Amino acid sequence: MPALPPDIDPSDVGGLLAGLSSPLAAVSVRVGDVVNAQIAVAITSASIVLHRPRLIVQIYHTNYTHDLIGESGALAVNFLNHDQLPLIWGLGMRSGRDCDKLADVAYTSGPTGCPLLEGSFGYLDCRVINAMDGGDMTAFLVEVLAGKTNGSQRMTWREARPRLPQRWADEWDSKIAGEMNISLETMSEIDPAAWADRRHNRNR
Ligand SMILES: Cc1cc2nc3c(=O)[nH]c(=O)nc-3n(C[C@H](O)[C@H](O)[C@H](O)COP(=O)(O)O)c2cc1C
Repeated sequence: MPALPPDIDPSDVGGLLAGLSSPLAAVSVRVGDVVNAQIAVAITSASIVLHRPRLIVQIYHTNYTHDLIGESGALAVNFLNHDQLPLIWGLGMRSGRDCDKLADVAYTSGPTGCPLLEGSFGYLDCRVINAMDGGDMTAFLVEVLAGKTNGSQRMTWREARPRLPQRWADEWDSKIAGEMNISLETMSEIDPAAWADRRHNRNR
């Protein structure tokens, strides 16, 4: 095993990695009266048992949503429809630390209380059952407690990106450049503590 971190040429692997993103989703969360949601594309199915679906949802440490999931132990994944383009800016380029991102967004709630956004392609309301720290992000293993597909058309980032107004695209490029620098600094600082330990410490 090499001792130094790898230094991969992005042009060798970019095409391979791009194909691994999920459709665009709003990951929503509730702690008491506080609700928030962020955009995510790092979501994978993690169960082969059809009636016991699980997902792995990757959320970056710097996000307010990350803190709230840590407190509540629950999240909902709302896959976006084609006509929900404005939510990419509303939920993906601002932080809920600075504003109430769901103030003008209609939603209901299910078993966990997390917001289920109206007009979405569908939702999966989930409880966290384990988590793995990646230094800059946490991969949450969640089990689906309730879900519904509403139909219509799911939206991917590949389709949505060319439809963004130039101002949003520029804002995103600048935001992601900053996030990459933070990741580079923190991705080696992995906390191996298990989710159960972390929850225990938090509840003390
Ligand atoms: C297209 C797109 C994909 C994103 N994918 C993820 C993701 O998979 N995981 C993640 O943690 N953040 C992802 N983000 C970034 C968050 O949505 C963004 O940092 C958000 O402002 C965090 O909000 P919060 O601080 O209210 O939680 C994505 C953003 C966009 C626009």
